[in-house]
Amino acid sequence: MMNTKLNATIICTFLLLAVSVGCQGSKDRDVKPVTEEPPAEDVSLQKNLPFKFGAAISPGLMKSRAAYRDVVTKEFNSITTENAMKMSFIHPSANTYNWADADYLVDFAAQNGKRLHGHTLNWYKNVPAWVASFQGDSTAWEALLKTHIQTIVSRYKGRVASWDVVNEAFEENGKYRNSIWIQKLGEDYIARCFQYAHEADPQALLFYNDYGHEYGPTKRTAILNLVTGLKNRGIPIHGIGMQMHTRVNRSDADLAKAIETAAATGLLVHISELDIAVNPDNDKNMVWTAALASQQALKYKSIVKAYNAIPKAQQFGITTWNVSDADSWIPGQYDRPDWPLPFDANYERKPAYQGILDGVK
Ligand code: GLA
Repeated sequence: MMNTKLNATIICTFLLLAVSVGCQGSKDRDVKPVTEEPPAEDVSLQKNLPFKFGAAISPGLMKSRAAYRDVVTKEFNSITTENAMKMSFIHPSANTYNWADADYLVDFAAQNGKRLHGHTLNWYKNVPAWVASFQGDSTAWEALLKTHIQTIVSRYKGRVASWDVVNEAFEENGKYRNSIWIQKLGEDYIARCFQYAHEADPQALLFYNDYGHEYGPTKRTAILNLVTGLKNRGIPIHGIGMQMHTRVNRSDADLAKAIETAAATGLLVHISELDIAVNPDNDKNMVWTAALASQQALKYKSIVKAYNAIPKAQQFGITTWNVSDADSWIPGQYDRPDWPLPFDANYERKPAYQGILDGVK
């Protein structure tokens, strides 16, 4: 009995205290509002950022993982086709086009009010066997290239807003890669890719996409010279895609320089394949820690901040290369643990997510 009474007194005192502390808190808020942040469930990348934010998306994961699809639906307002439009997937033999996966993503984007960015009409990789072994003179090769580009672009005319027209034409030393396209058609095939795409859909925004702008001036200058040269010749190029597969120890200055110099071309700027590796030295035993998470969050913030500083009219958006750490290409490609994306393997937001939002504050 005594005990019950004592307990009741303690509980009452505690409640009184709690109420008075609560009142004190709200009085403070009346004087000086500290935080205006909406509840977490009302926040999303697409709502809270002043430019489009997207991800490269896999149709297989959209169909097989509800959490993946939910995050895509909620968070992003732009979708890049991760693999579905690469040549060997979409055009596996001379007279066969495999539209199913690309159609699925284009339809999903249309039904859910998201921009669809097509990737990629031309690349030195993912060349199907029928192309690698194709026999023909330069006229036949030109027809092959033109047909490939125009068949795809015209199918999606008006539904795919923008395209990576040519991907990764340069080596790290700033020279053109010795790709099958250069071998068969010469360097100016790049300009013709843009013209063919433009003929098929004059409204589509056309990008040259590459990586390494943040490595230093050699490759960056080659890329900037190419896009500026195309623009000055009146070739229909509208934007520059900077892949930015980067790492947590890349300097903020190098990343900012890459973004600023791209913007100086006057073209649209797309950070097109962003991910931030935390294990670039391939430590097979690395584990994920709070310290890594906050370093990564700061790096995301720094990139978003530099991007937010370029002229609004040039901000095409930022796209991460897939959604969660479970979907990233990096662990498989380099055979190492890594955690490069803003969502963890359970599709929960990581500190990197907040880093992205903080970049525009
Ligand atoms: C490049 C390509 C992408 C993708 C990534 C990662 O950056 O442009 O299509 O293949 O590598 O795999």
